[in-house]
Amino acid sequence: SSPLTIAIDGYSACGKSTLARALARRLGYSYIDTGAMYRAVTLHLQRDEVNLEDDAAVTEALRQITIAFRPEDNHVLLNGEDVEHQIRGLSVSKMVSQVAALSKVRRAMVEQQRRMGADGGVILDGRDIGTVVFPDADLKLFVTADLETRIDRRLSELLADGQEVQREEVAANLEERDYIDSHRADSPLRMADDAVLLDNTHLGLEELVERGEELVQQLR
Ligand code: C5P
Repeated sequence: SSPLTIAIDGYSACGKSTLARALARRLGYSYIDTGAMYRAVTLHLQRDEVNLEDDAAVTEALRQITIAFRPEDNHVLLNGEDVEHQIRGLSVSKMVSQVAALSKVRRAMVEQQRRMGADGGVILDGRDIGTVVFPDADLKLFVTADLETRIDRRLSELLADGQEVQREEVAANLEERDYIDSHRADSPLRMADDAVLLDNTHLGLEELVERGEELVQQLR
């Protein structure tokens, strides 16, 4: 059967990247974490102290960066540097939604995502994959989970990573990002009309992956 293009969208920390990674492994597909790309751009802009309202400076910054994924472990590379750890911190999380709301940034990322996924056999996760990046994807999943579940998940990830964060801080960041991501003018987060809704609140991650696999099998 020909290689599929699978789009996974949803709110912050809803389990979509775990689902995407597990499905990609089982299908032998590549996995593109588009959130990591916006996070890498944000890290670069922070390091260079670029004013987000300075259009020319943002354009110049975008020209200077190359984002790639290291095949062995899928770590994101910013101009060849492994920044996987830095992009997961709260400092980047607090600014990424403002950066991702800039059309100029989105245009560059979407173009690269389409190129990377052009041959199929790929799973992308993000906020606008099924609506904008690959509106003709073979399978679209939209993952949700209630806010408390998502806060718990993200908090334990950050603590396991050795970061010193408070629950309230994580909660505020998830709520703020979800708000900005779903209210921006360019490519707001929304479920595509033809997406399948998966709720990770009561469905464990293992069941989520099984459900995803079933949906893939039905296409074959
Ligand atoms: O998926 P993750 O939570 O790492 O994404 C970080 C941020 O990147 C999101 O909150 C959103 O602002 C932005 N993003 C986006 N479009 C995507 C993926 C992520 O705007 N396709």
